[in-house]
Amino acid sequence: MPRYAKRLLTLPEYPLGKFPQKKRELIARGMDVIDLGAGDADLAPPPAAVERLAAAARTPSMSRYGFGLGLVEYREAIARFMKRRFDLEFDALTEIVPLIGSKEGISHVALAYAEDGDVTIIPEPGYLAYVGGTQLALGEPYRYELRPENDFLVDLDQIPADVLKRTRILYLNYPNNPTAAVAPRDYLESVVKRCRELDILLVYDNAYSEMAFDGYRPPSIFEIDGAKDVAIEFHSMSKTYNMTGWRCGWAVGSKELVAPLAKVKLFVDTGAFMAVQAASAAALDDYDNFVPRNIAVFRERRDAAVAAFRENGFEVEAPKATMYLWIPLPEHITSAEFAEFLMEEEGVIVLPGSSFGAGGEGFFRVSFVTSAERLREAAMRAGRVLTRLSVGA
Ligand SMILES: Cc1ncc(COP(=O)(O)O)c(C=O)c1O
Repeated sequence: MPRYAKRLLTLPEYPLGKFPQKKRELIARGMDVIDLGAGDADLAPPPAAVERLAAAARTPSMSRYGFGLGLVEYREAIARFMKRRFDLEFDALTEIVPLIGSKEGISHVALAYAEDGDVTIIPEPGYLAYVGGTQLALGEPYRYELRPENDFLVDLDQIPADVLKRTRILYLNYPNNPTAAVAPRDYLESVVKRCRELDILLVYDNAYSEMAFDGYRPPSIFEIDGAKDVAIEFHSMSKTYNMTGWRCGWAVGSKELVAPLAKVKLFVDTGAFMAVQAASAAALDDYDNFVPRNIAVFRERRDAAVAAFRENGFEVEAPKATMYLWIPLPEHITSAEFAEFLMEEEGVIVLPGSSFGAGGEGFFRVSFVTSAERLREAAMRAGRVLTRLSVGA
């Protein structure tokens, strides 16, 4: 049998990979499954995007290769969004890279910036594309634990100098998946300053920039002075517009920093379906009409989930942003044991903190991606499992 590459063995299990099959098994067993696993809401995408997709699918030129350029209309809509939302100017043709979902770019960027033995700093718990991209590029992950004690922020000065010397990439993601933490502006200023001093590429994953509540407006990293010298920022259509399956996002940054990513992509893909890019442009231009109402639905779900988990014995903080609750467990219950019990006995899928890396132990993640009523039902079942696992402890 042909031998596969050793780098494959270095990859962890991808937690969300097993759930579609597992869910089918639970349903076949007659369980009423509530899936709060993936950050993948049950809501509809913008009608403006659906209509544009349908029209574009009937236009023959949209079915051709986009190559790296893709649809200029999409690039221009992104530039307009960055201006409207953050008051930042980017050149549509040279400073924006259309992506097949932001995950695609986030995982490929290490191929452009890290090589054999180069270190990348990976916040843990964290989105697994950081470690995946690093290891596929044969880089060396340095795991930094995000804990309540450090406000879920990476402090570069806690990392040994010899590691920092070999570091090429720092991945940061605020608002954060899975902890729902947000980053204060003075923190972002200090990180940008340190990355400039150390010549580290700051990969700023801003997938949740629009998913924020109670008047909080997450910044772009480029609002911070000097960021354009060291950062690439990643954005996604997925969460803001309920378009997870459409696979569309973008990277933005100085021409010099994004060009290497664009070059890698020329050799591994040919861009997202241009009809999807056209639909994404329509969604971006329909922001005012769609996004505030969509976020209001998530806020209602957040409030319902926070109240229900509290009523059922959990300590939960109401997150300012993201679609997640990051809920601590009593010390004697491991997150894997809790999630397994909850799934097998009560049909509720949540993610154990440990599946985001060792630093996530002691927590589980709930995605508020379904109705308030189903979230209340899920919290009740979770409360029953908490009681059962606590008995005799
Ligand atoms: C932190 C973070 N970054 C990026 C993504 C990827 O989003 P997409 O590839 O759908 O744009 C996700 C999706 O869950 C995420 O949680």
